[in-house]
Amino acid sequence: MEMKKLEGQTAVVTGASSGIGQACAIALGMAGANVVVNYAGNPNGAIVAVDKIKAAGGRAMVVQADVSQKEQVDNMFAQAVEAFGTVDILVNNAGLQKDAAFIDMTLEQWNYVLAVNLTGQFLCAQAAVKEFIRRGMNGHSKALGKIICMSSVHELIPWAGHVNYAASKGGVMLMMKSLAQELGPMKIRVNSVAPGAIKTPINHMAWETPEAEERLLKLIPYKRVGVVDDIGNVTVWLASDESDYIHGATIFVDGGMTLYPGFEDNG
Ligand code: BGC
Repeated sequence: MEMKKLEGQTAVVTGASSGIGQACAIALGMAGANVVVNYAGNPNGAIVAVDKIKAAGGRAMVVQADVSQKEQVDNMFAQAVEAFGTVDILVNNAGLQKDAAFIDMTLEQWNYVLAVNLTGQFLCAQAAVKEFIRRGMNGHSKALGKIICMSSVHELIPWAGHVNYAASKGGVMLMMKSLAQELGPMKIRVNSVAPGAIKTPINHMAWETPEAEERLLKLIPYKRVGVVDDIGNVTVWLASDESDYIHGATIFVDGGMTLYPGFEDNG
């Protein structure tokens, strides 16, 4: 039987109880990885992901942790190591929006989004790197470990009414690149996936009604709103040795949203 792409490796996926994170967890499990399915609040979707992976013959477990809290992050990694021996892949996915016009945005809204979307990625990356180094090369992969940061087209595209979110993703961009520069010599591979508009709970208002979807499609040259598997598939590939020479890159998975479609018939 052919070996699955990520056989023998363990992945931690944060924010995996819904949307993109849940799809990444399932896709990694189907590719043979043991998966730590993290959630912060509601376990239901995380349990669904674990059940799917197990039903396909894989190994997975649910771990609750708020990624903005160092003790909880360290505890999650300790549980991962106890259950599966080590961690090979981190999908730094947990993220949220608390939208407000700039003038109305509260300090709480600003701090909350930065704490989860940026500090959370920092804390999880640090815990992952410590585990990669402790474990050392194990022959499962050409890399000592792989970190995949879930960014957004808004690491590039400014976003009025979402200054906290856009700032967090801009931060993720240079965090990822600085980590790639610093950790590359240790054979730790660090990259980002930058989704465009993907149908998930975070942006349901933008695609739920036909009118909203039509407006959204104006921003997408490929004329299709993304689905979570678009991101899951790329994430599995980026975690695998097939992409071993991709390092410090952001892969935009956005149907062309970053192509300035406003210039299609203007400018
Ligand atoms: C946001 C979504 C938005 C998409 C495209 C994502 O990062 O979370 O709400 O639809 O970017 O603008």
